[in-house]
Amino acid sequence: MRILIPRETRAGERRVAMVPSVVGKFTGIDVEVLVESGAGAHAFFSDADYTAAGARIIPTDDLNLVLEAVDVVASVRSLEYTRARRLKAGAIALSFLSPAEDTDVVRATRDAGATAMSFDLVPRISRAQSMDALTSQSLVTGYRASLVAADLMPKFFPLFMTAAGTIQPAKVLVLGAGVAGLQAIATAKRLGARVSAYDVRPASADEVRSMGGTFITLDLDTLEGSGGYAREMTEERSARQRELLTPHISDSDAVITTAALPGRSAPLLVTTQMVQTMKPGSIVVDLASESGGNVECSVAGEIVDMNGIQIWGAQDVASQMPIHASQLYAMNVFALLSPAVTEGHISLDMDDEVYAGCVVVLDGEIRNEAALAAVGKA
Ligand SMILES: NC(=O)c1ccc[n+]([C@@H]2O[C@H](COP(=O)([O-])OP(=O)(O)OC[C@H]3O[C@@H](n4cnc5c(N)ncnc54)[C@H](O)[C@@H]3O)[C@@H](O)[C@H]2O)c1
Repeated sequence: MRILIPRETRAGERRVAMVPSVVGKFTGIDVEVLVESGAGAHAFFSDADYTAAGARIIPTDDLNLVLEAVDVVASVRSLEYTRARRLKAGAIALSFLSPAEDTDVVRATRDAGATAMSFDLVPRISRAQSMDALTSQSLVTGYRASLVAADLMPKFFPLFMTAAGTIQPAKVLVLGAGVAGLQAIATAKRLGARVSAYDVRPASADEVRSMGGTFITLDLDTLEGSGGYAREMTEERSARQRELLTPHISDSDAVITTAALPGRSAPLLVTTQMVQTMKPGSIVVDLASESGGNVECSVAGEIVDMNGIQIWGAQDVASQMPIHASQLYAMNVFALLSPAVTEGHISLDMDDEVYAGCVVVLDGEIRNEAALAAVGKA
């Protein structure tokens, strides 16, 4: 069995789906690892590093031929249409494929008679934690969010008691306490800030406290949805939440927003009016700005300055720490694929809820409802 790691082609993507330290795990179960020349360059892994670890480097000129022969292709972003079309029947492409948006790729995989698996759809169950790339990449983005806030802030995060007097710690408010939010809380705490947080899921209160944050309780219903995710708010509740959060926002030196809803645009948590209640010198970090934005005035990939308040819009955040983001991702790839490999052959057990959940196309048949609906519409 052979697994191919192509170079990522999307602008701004610096991660790679395999790192040298994970190559040996695959060769140890009789899987040959092929890496397109230069695939790891943006994550600081050279072709020589992969070769030393036991992988074979494929020159880009040979990539199309190799694509037609391998059993698995693992990438971070979904394969391009022209590459997916070249997959051999029965081959597996694994990535963060979006079943409802990457319709061309879904169609190309179907027409090739191949299989597409998406990390977006790995079930959130304990057994699948090691396979969960949404979690591993959220850890990176949450950590980075607090570093960005600390870096942009024109004052200290920690308490300082000096001979010249005492400096009070910065107040950081985190909205959305899922995987990224909890990591943002932990990182801001380690940097010495005073951290508070809010989330609509009741379970998040204890998790926030366990990270050393203060949970903000609002006089509102909680919104626990299925699979441990949040439910969407009504417009009325949303407006009331914004009203109740405003005093907490104006009292904060930094606000970090991480709220998301599966398969939907991010909820609007902070209006421009709310941002304007903050003091000049304050920072807003919107981790959701690529998926609609939690903050009305954030722009993905830009820092907006509004009367001295800086609003940082996230874009390709995991790619800003490509070494460890890639390492965690590569370990997720191994954890997801290796149970299906026996004596150098891969076969997905579709009675396993993990594979049943994350397979979008199986041997040319679209199995995912969102993908079926999107391909039907396109
Ligand atoms: N394998 C596993 O068991 C596993 C792995 C990862 C996460 N989880 C669980 O899945 C859940 C979601 O995690 P995630 O980080 O991927 O979530 P996510 O990225 O979908 O959302 C981030 C956070 O935003 C919150 N949110 C949504 N709307 C909001 C609003 N209007 N106001 C405030 N907050 C809002 C959500 O409740 C969530 O905590 C958590 O319960 C987490 O513990 C389980």
